[in-house]
Amino acid sequence: MKKKIANLLKELESTRKTYFNISPETGKFLNLLIKERKYKTILEIGASNGYSGIWIAEALSHAEGHLHTIESNEKKRYPLAKENFELSSLSKYITLILGHAPEDLPEAPKTLDMAFFDATKHEHLSYFKIIGPRIKKGGMIITDNMISHKKELKTYRDHIEKDHNWDSELIHVGTGLLISIKK
Ligand SMILES: C[S@@+](CC[C@H](N)C(=O)[O-])C[C@H]1O[C@@H](n2cnc3c(N)ncnc32)[C@H](O)[C@@H]1O
Repeated sequence: MKKKIANLLKELESTRKTYFNISPETGKFLNLLIKERKYKTILEIGASNGYSGIWIAEALSHAEGHLHTIESNEKKRYPLAKENFELSSLSKYITLILGHAPEDLPEAPKTLDMAFFDATKHEHLSYFKIIGPRIKKGGMIITDNMISHKKELKTYRDHIEKDHNWDSELIHVGTGLLISIKK
C-alpha cells in the first residue's frame, strides 16, 4: 500500500468512533481478502466518511476494479467521504452514491463479486433481498457488527443461514463479520 494511503487511514483512525468506522483489523482483512479473491466489482452500503471504502478501493486498484458505495447522510458524511476519496487518490476506482439503500441502488451494477453491509441494522434483510440475487456464484456478502449488534441482526442472520444458496460463517474480526458465500 502506498505510504500516502496508509497515512490517510492512520489519520482517519483518530475519528473512528465519531464516524462509526470499521476497525483497522477489519479493514486489513477486507483488503487482503479482496486481493486474494481478485474481486473486481464491489458494493458497500454505508460509506460514512469513506474509511472502509479506502481499504476496499485500495485492494481493487490492484485489479482495476471498482467500488460502488452509498451514503445517506447528505450534510456531513457524504461530503467527507468524497473529500477523503479524493485525498486518497483512489477516486477513479470509486463511485460514491448519495442516497438510501436499497431503493437508491438501481444505478449500482447488476452483477457483483462482493457486497459489504455496514448500515442500519434493521434494514439488512431488505439489502439482502435486493443485492443477494446480484452476487455472482462464488461471490460474497460480508456483514459487519454481527457480534456487537447480535440482537438487532438476529432476523437477518437466521434468514441468510437458512437460505440453501448461501454458506455463512461468523468470524471474530473487529465487531464480528458474517461471511456469506453464494453457492
Ligand atoms: C457504520 S457507518 C459506516 C461506516 C463505514 N463503512 C466505515 O467503516 O468507514 C453506517 C453509515 O451508513 C449510513 N446509512 C445508514 N443506513 C443507510 C442506508 N439505508 N443507505 C445508505 N446509507 C445508510 C449512515 O448514515 C452511516 O454513515
